Amino acid sequence: MNSSFAIFGLGYVGAVTAGCLASRGHVVCGVDVHPGKVDALMSGRSPIVEPGLDPLIAEAMAEGRLRATTDSVEAVAGASVLMVCVGTPSLASGRLNLDYVRAVCAEIAAALTNHPHPDGPRLLVLRSTMLPGSTRSLVREFFAGLIDGGALEVVVCPEFLREGTAVNDFADPSLAVVGTADGAPPRLLERVAEVTVAEPRVMTWAGAEMIKYSCNYFHAVKVAFANEVGRLSRHLGIDGREVMEAVCADRRLNISEYYLRPGNPFGGSCLPKDVSALGALARQEGVPLPLLESVLPTNQAHLDALLAQIEVHRPRRLAILGLTFKADTDDLRGSPMVAVAETLLGRGIDLSIYDPLVNLSALTGANERDIRQRMPHLGRLLADSAEQAVDGADVVLVAQRCTGLDRLASALDRSQVVIDVNGWPGLETLTEHYEGSCW
Ligand SMILES: NC(=O)c1ccc[n+]([C@@H]2O[C@H](COP(=O)([O-])OP(=O)(O)OC[C@H]3O[C@@H](n4cnc5c(N)ncnc54)[C@H](O)[C@@H]3O)[C@@H](O)[C@H]2O)c1
Repeated sequence: MNSSFAIFGLGYVGAVTAGCLASRGHVVCGVDVHPGKVDALMSGRSPIVEPGLDPLIAEAMAEGRLRATTDSVEAVAGASVLMVCVGTPSLASGRLNLDYVRAVCAEIAAALTNHPHPDGPRLLVLRSTMLPGSTRSLVREFFAGLIDGGALEVVVCPEFLREGTAVNDFADPSLAVVGTADGAPPRLLERVAEVTVAEPRVMTWAGAEMIKYSCNYFHAVKVAFANEVGRLSRHLGIDGREVMEAVCADRRLNISEYYLRPGNPFGGSCLPKDVSALGALARQEGVPLPLLESVLPTNQAHLDALLAQIEVHRPRRLAILGLTFKADTDDLRGSPMVAVAETLLGRGIDLSIYDPLVNLSALTGANERDIRQRMPHLGRLLADSAEQAVDGADVVLVAQRCTGLDRLASALDRSQVVIDVNGWPGLETLTEHYEGSCW
């Protein structure tokens, strides 16, 4: 199916999108408030510098599939898909400026209201990068009536292209995402697929908005991390590039999904100690590493958030399932769940803990010393089974899958609050009060 597109904003995203869609056989009209950009496109040139884009635009213009205008009403009238690719810069305060998007939405809503499309609903694709919640408020302000009347479907399709390789990225995107009002597949899925090229992941508007920011945040953190490693390495006379190449060669733990799921704070005998030691060395050497310095505080903030989430229920008795710092070990050193237990016990909450791998009499060395110092009375808090642990608890904190889901189902009362730290599929069906710890 070939659709007709109106693309608002002929900057780096809009011009590439217009040229690439037109080269795929679609009829495209670009819209921009900047007459120079419209003139450039109309004379067969790209309004921005992007390798490979000029020939696509020249060819599509010559074949009559591409044009440009400053007249949004005219553009909307002839299009079945409307795409918003205008800028979303920062305000002086650092907050997001949605003025350009709002202006385009107002123009589109007015054009659609005054010129209803005879051939069924239009698809409005919000491509500009917008904070979570933006689409919902734009829809409320401009499009609710059109959607209710069946004239419009609104989706969020964030753009993941990189300037300089944008034409290739359009044809082979690193990620394709579509956000819909309720997270269900869009009704106009075929048209959406023309925009995303690859099969998109489907989620809510806000989820799609958040993914775009998460990607950019992640990229920024990666650059900052590599540069901090580089700065400290250079200071110490080490080749930071060689270090990072080796770090990146580990595809199992480093460049992988590992450690990238929201859940537990990190703990154990290595990560807190080693982050602390490298930070101390950098401080001593006078090398500022703000990202590294922020890692322990953010881990503590995550633990504090979990404590607050538990305490909001004012439990008299809390059951903790899983005490070690991660699954399949008996190591309690630096365990976040020990910190939770220690803190809440100190605040007068009755605890009952089950972890099949914790055998106090078998602990030795630093592991034993650490736990005896932090929780001298741990022994009397340990239950023999998950069933015994959850019995009588108001809140059940599930940090590990240390029993079967079926056994837990028979032990749990549906009125008990269950807080799932790491995401255990099926756990949400066991209670009327299920909470993920951070999702
Ligand atoms: N540049 C990138 O690499 C990139 C990648 C992914 C996502 N994004 C996001 O895509 C969006 C667009 O980015 P960009 O780099 O293309 O911006 P840009 O500033 O290059 O282009 C925006 C265009 O919108 C036009 N415009 C403003 N108001 C308009 C209106 N009312 N009607 C029609 N046109 C209007 C401007 O004249 C300009 O040509 C932003 O939200 C950005 O964050 C950018």
